Amino acid sequence: MIAPVVRCLVVAADPLLGAEMTALADDLPGVQVVGVVAPLRAVAGRLPPCDVALLADPGERGGPALRQLVAGCGRPAVVLARSAGVDTYRRALAAGARAVLPLPAVPAALGDVLVEATVAGANAATSPAGRVTAVLAAKGGTGATSTALALARLAGATLVDMSGSWASLAALLGCRSERSLADLAHVGEGLAAAVASAAIEHPCGLRLVPGPAGPEIAAALPGGFAAALVRDLRAGGPAVVDAGGGAFAASREAAAAADRALVVVTPDAPAAAAGRDLVTTLARAGSADAIRVIVNRWSRRSELSLRGIARTVGVPIAAVVRDDADALDALADGRARLDRWPGRMQTVALRELAAEVSP
Ligand SMILES: Nc1ncnc2c1ncn2[C@@H]1O[C@H](COP(=O)(O)OP(=O)(O)O)[C@@H](O)[C@H]1O
Ligand SMILES: [Mg+2]
Repeated sequence: MIAPVVRCLVVAADPLLGAEMTALADDLPGVQVVGVVAPLRAVAGRLPPCDVALLADPGERGGPALRQLVAGCGRPAVVLARSAGVDTYRRALAAGARAVLPLPAVPAALGDVLVEATVAGANAATSPAGRVTAVLAAKGGTGATSTALALARLAGATLVDMSGSWASLAALLGCRSERSLADLAHVGEGLAAAVASAAIEHPCGLRLVPGPAGPEIAAALPGGFAAALVRDLRAGGPAVVDAGGGAFAASREAAAAADRALVVVTPDAPAAAAGRDLVTTLARAGSADAIRVIVNRWSRRSELSLRGIARTVGVPIAAVVRDDADALDALADGRARLDRWPGRMQTVALRELAAEVSP
């Protein structure tokens, strides 16, 4: 039994399916069906007052897509599907739905998923948002990769290689991979599942999503791909995206779409000026509040003070990592020993930030 009354709205294009879903919900004590609306109306968000949306699965190719329906409804959504396979679940959950119910179903099964959907709704309201962090630098060799790797290790986050570098993270970490992000550029709706399938697991436990293999492929990624990727990553656990030198539109798009962007600069005037230009570009595409600076390779002898860097770049400093060639040479040699990564100095510098990355 569900108490008090749960008001359900049925969203279905097919009137027969709409009637079947209505009958199912009507048979369940404690549930009130407030109406049946067409998908386009749901996408537009013009809904009667209700607590849960029951969405007929539009299928992989149907329009509007499930994601648009869930977003348009703006309340906990349950997807009802005639042929629900593993793919349907992945697609539905990636789209933000709370549960999937295969049809035909008995009213009790709907009761179970409604409880699941409304309980998950209460939890979701209290769980902190902001799970995708992009790390990028205004020029190569600044420390984007070493910082992203350290944050991912400390936070237990998935590391996503969007740097477009010839030297891929997978190779650096000694992982072999069959697929990369570039293979996923056209999968559209099933992106989250595809990302999950492309991920490789390093023996130390780090999950890595291999990036586009080289600059040509990074440059050829279609517009919107990186933003969709970030949205799908958000549906999973915490993720850190290595957006490299921000040289590719797709890398910058990922950084602008992420919940926070960390711009790595070294403490010298050219790096700070380049950092400011990168921050300005990102702020135009996303929001300036989400951008902070990481000062890398800092020492007392540095050309600029921390205050000077913050002033030049125009956003606050999130962390300061000292110059420590001994600890970081492993990366320069192309052999990062992950079981010993990050070293003590980097750990101390990035610990607080890592706690934000993985709330
Ligand atoms: N804090 C640091 N102290 C000393 N060397 C560093 C530091 N951070 C990075 N490095 C070195 O700089 C090189 C470039 O770093 P990397 O993270 O690959 O830069 P990017 O990804 O921005 O090109 C690495 O080989 C690493 O050894
Ligand atoms: Mg790099």
